[in-house]
Parts: sequence; C-alpha cells; structure tokens
Amino acid sequence: MLVLRTLADLHAACADLRRGAEPLALVPTMGALHQGHRALVRAAMASGAATVASIFVNPRQFAADEDLTRYPRDEAADLEALRAEGCALVWLPDMTTMYPHDEATTITVTGPAQHWEGAVRPGHFRGVATVCAKLFGQVRPDRAYFGEKDWQQVQVVKRMVADLLLPLRIVGIETVREADGLAMSSRNRFLSAEQRTQAPMLIAALRDVAARLAAGETTPAPLADAHAALQRQGFAVDYLALVDGETLSPLDSATPGARLIAAARLGTVRLLDNIAAA
Ligand code: PAF
Repeated sequence: MLVLRTLADLHAACADLRRGAEPLALVPTMGALHQGHRALVRAAMASGAATVASIFVNPRQFAADEDLTRYPRDEAADLEALRAEGCALVWLPDMTTMYPHDEATTITVTGPAQHWEGAVRPGHFRGVATVCAKLFGQVRPDRAYFGEKDWQQVQVVKRMVADLLLPLRIVGIETVREADGLAMSSRNRFLSAEQRTQAPMLIAALRDVAARLAAGETTPAPLADAHAALQRQGFAVDYLALVDGETLSPLDSATPGARLIAAARLGTVRLLDNIAAA
C-alpha cells in the first residue's frame, strides 16, 4: 500500500493505477477509522476499483465553537486498517497542499445543504463541499464512496458533483451499526459508559416513527412524540424530521424515498442518524 503526502507523488501513482485499466475509487475520510469506513473501502474494492483512501481532518468544516483539536487522530491504526482492507493507496495531504495561502475559491451548495446540519452548523457544508472538490481534483476518481450515516452530506456532495458536471459518481453506502443499533461514528468513543447505554435510543426513536408512518399516521404527532421521548431520556435534540431523501425538504407524509433524519446531543457528544421512512 502506497502512503503518499505530496501531490507530485499522488499524481504519478494515480496515473499508474489508471494504466492498470481498473476504475479508480476514492474513499474520503478524516481518519479515526471504524468499521463504517472499512465498509466503504470494502465496497469500493468489491466494485473492482483500485481504491485510494484519503485522510485529512478538514478544519474548514468545523465551526469555531466545535473542538477541532479534540477530533480523534490515530494515523498508525488508520494505515493498519486500510492495509488490512487491501487499499492501494493512502493520500495524506497537509494543510498547505489543501489550502494554498492565496486561495480565493470556496464552494457553496444551497438546496439540500440549507436545512438541518446546514442550519445547526453554518459553514459546515461549505467546508465539506470545498474539501471534497479539492480531493476529487487531486485524485480524479471515477467514483467516490461516502457513508449514509451522514445522509445529508451524501446528498450535498451528489448535488455539487451534478451541478459542477464533475466526471465521477458518488456512491452512498449503508450505515454500519453496533449490535444494539448505534450507528458507528468516530465520536462514539467520547460517550461515557452511561451515555453509551442511552445512545441507541436515537435509532430506536427513528424506528418507532417509521413504524407509525408505515401504519398510516402522518406528521407531526409521531415526530413530536419521539422528540419528547428523546428529551426525557436525556438527549438535547437538534432536529428530528421527515424529509425528501434527495432535496432534504421537510415532508408531511412518507412518500417514496422519504428519510427520517435526526441529530441529538448526549452531553458534549453529537449523534447523527437516519433511516428510510417509506
Ligand atoms: O465524512 C467525513 O469524514 C468528512 O466530512 C469528509 C467527507 C471526509 C470531508 O472532510
């Protein structure tokens, strides 16, 4: 597995991989890899692509009040995990490579980026879209793999790729869960023992809403009940909503493709989850 840190090395190695006539897949990550990331690499490999994973903790997608320095970093363990999955190349750009001092361009996505994470974390999706565009330009993959735990992020990146006519396909991969249903996340390690027992209540609440919608109920009662139940269980709920799976616009009833999305905090740990609503 190649571990590269300069653009010149990356471009040469990607050209070699492309000469192998396999498609090139990119798995963009911020490191602290868990089984969810490994599933992305496995899906890329299973598709027959030569797989590049990137690790870059992107400061531009953290707000001033979000603790960037607390974001978990373990390069040695990440490289071990990627090697074990058979990744061809790991791209480890530094800050200057990603953000040259005189850069004048950022990418703003509206549409699916406006609500939910976009509202709670202003500037977050600008940071995500800009870094993803840069990674796509650096690696020039045929497709890129993203975890559906960050459902809105997948839709935002898809929309950017469509709008900018970028020549790659975005592939969303189903959320990997712990045995009790908790969606895997790099931030789960910050949960205390008590919070870890509470955390699966988020997916339980979403499943409860989905069951009520499937039984013919319409919003807002199932959403309001789930919201109240989570609050009683100690969550501070940022949002819990029924949305169109592509545009992220709020919906009243579970039309095909609808998604239930939620973000809620347990202490300082913010949990995100989503499931199909129809
Ligand atoms: O999902 C993430 O880990 C990040 O938002 C991404 C896509 C790697 C961009 O920094």
